[in-house]
Amino acid sequence: MKWYGLNARELPWRSTKNPYHIWICEIVLQQTRVEQGKNHYLNFVQRFPDVKSLAEANIDEVLLYWKGLGYYSRAINLHTAAKQVMTDFGGDFPKHFDEILKLKGVGKYTAAAVASICFDEKIPAIDGNFYRVLSRIFADDFDVSSSKAYQYFYNLAMMIMPEENFGDFNQAIMDIGSEVCKPKNPNCGICPVQENCLAFGLGKVQNFPVKSKKVKPQGLKLKYYHILYKEYFLIKQRDDSFIWKRLYDFPEEIPSELETFITEEKTINHKLTHKNLEISIAKVSIDDKAIFEEFARKNQFIITDFEKSHQKSFPKPLENFLKKEFEGF
Ligand code: ADE
Repeated sequence: MKWYGLNARELPWRSTKNPYHIWICEIVLQQTRVEQGKNHYLNFVQRFPDVKSLAEANIDEVLLYWKGLGYYSRAINLHTAAKQVMTDFGGDFPKHFDEILKLKGVGKYTAAAVASICFDEKIPAIDGNFYRVLSRIFADDFDVSSSKAYQYFYNLAMMIMPEENFGDFNQAIMDIGSEVCKPKNPNCGICPVQENCLAFGLGKVQNFPVKSKKVKPQGLKLKYYHILYKEYFLIKQRDDSFIWKRLYDFPEEIPSELETFITEEKTINHKLTHKNLEISIAKVSIDDKAIFEEFARKNQFIITDFEKSHQKSFPKPLENFLKKEFEGF
């Protein structure tokens, strides 16, 4: 706690205890590192300064403000949860861990961060960083991939938490985890708890945390058609099932008559958390405006161009694909 008092990182969300702001920052930080997260957070809360403005916003605009962060279901959940606060909590952000946990997309870590930082509730915010720091300090070989790890480290944390300032305690562990007790090259020389760290004493910092299970990513193939007439091309919005919910992508099927227009095919590999995607995109250059428009109309595809497509959110690999295709436009 003393170390945190002197070394806490100055971050835009650390000057507030507004639970809405802390919630947004925690969700943003699940998606990106602190440095990149700062601007995303500031832009988001500037456009949607409170629960009400977020709840009343159009989902497409919320997605637009999530652009670049990826994993858009987090943004959809934010929007749903904001509406939930309006309807189920009368517009007041819930004040207790158990209630915060009821919000869509909010897990134990986020609920604990908000409850401890904003309402000084004694509850540890446990994530991978937390496992690492505690398992090293106690040279504890409890398997952090076990389903019982959360409860185990929760109990351990409750024993070492201070009597007050629980939010500072959680954020101190976060800062030690990211600035000092790093996964690969921990900076033990500057660690405020070096003397108390059993793993350091044993010279075995790298042996912790112990993790037995590795989730093997599944392979998945996707096929798209980039259907062009001059600089115009066709897009559609994905539905709520499967990956990339509500994002925009390209047609996934074409009738055989259009196959003659295929000029080239590209393959992109892209990793999601538990999936390795192999995305093939066939370029279909149609030189007949009527055929192009008729195909779009029949299938309710949207006709767009590169400039206009910036108003929509695409999955990262498709966004990169478009940037490359239209380089110099
Ligand atoms: N990572 C997740 N939450 C954080 C916070 N509140 N401060 C710094 N880093 C974080």
